Amino acid sequence: MATEILVVYFSRHGATHILAQAICDGVESVAGCTSRLRTVPAVSAVCEATEPAIPKDGPPYADAKDLTECAGLILGSPTRFGNMSAAMKYFVDQTLPQWISGDLIGKPAAVFTSTGSLHGGQEATLLSMMIPLLLALKGLSQARPYTFKWISLLIWLYVCEGLVRIVGPTATERSIAWVYLIIALALSAAILMGARAYQRLIKDSLTQNDPSKP
Ligand SMILES: Cc1cc2nc3c(=O)[nH]c(=O)nc-3n(C[C@H](O)[C@H](O)[C@H](O)COP(=O)(O)O)c2cc1C
Repeated sequence: MATEILVVYFSRHGATHILAQAICDGVESVAGCTSRLRTVPAVSAVCEATEPAIPKDGPPYADAKDLTECAGLILGSPTRFGNMSAAMKYFVDQTLPQWISGDLIGKPAAVFTSTGSLHGGQEATLLSMMIPLLLALKGLSQARPYTFKWISLLIWLYVCEGLVRIVGPTATERSIAWVYLIIALALSAAILMGARAYQRLIKDSLTQNDPSKP
């Protein structure tokens, strides 16, 4: 089965569109890979204004199905004062269901931009586009998965509670402290085992999707 990479971009004057098409050509040049080119509608200050469901030219608008079906994601936006365009931000802001379902976990992601000038804030734009991918959309974040964020906070809570109580005046309080510390230890062990299983899962799914492997 071909590995399909979703390329989503916004372009007002065509420069980012040209880059997006070149990126699709690059994806297609890799054996076993296909690209799916999608754009996003412009946003308007006039809230009654709506774009037609299908743009009058160019690729269709990206939707939730594209995000679910793709094996990887590439986002492109022109630089707007060192940031991504409002249209791309608006698209990203509508991906809450994917954030909740974790549809993009483990999928590799990349970003690209187009600017009017050298030193025009390219890095800042690319970083602004990476933040939702790294944190909210859980795209690339594998080293310390966001999914484990809350449980690690809980561990710290148990450790702190345990340390405070262990110097407590009564034997009961010191016993409770040990219970807290044991819970923290058990949660740490569980998170380590979970993270290892998660990494194995990602590795297996990447190996399965690797077109260079028979
Ligand atoms: C509101 C606005 C802000 C912009 N801010 C920057 C900027 O900070 N740095 C820069 O180099 N170019 C900036 N530009 C220029 C665009 O990023 C540049 O022309 C880009 O290539 C346009 O891409 P497009 O043809 O895909 O719409 C800005 C353009 C607009 C309309």
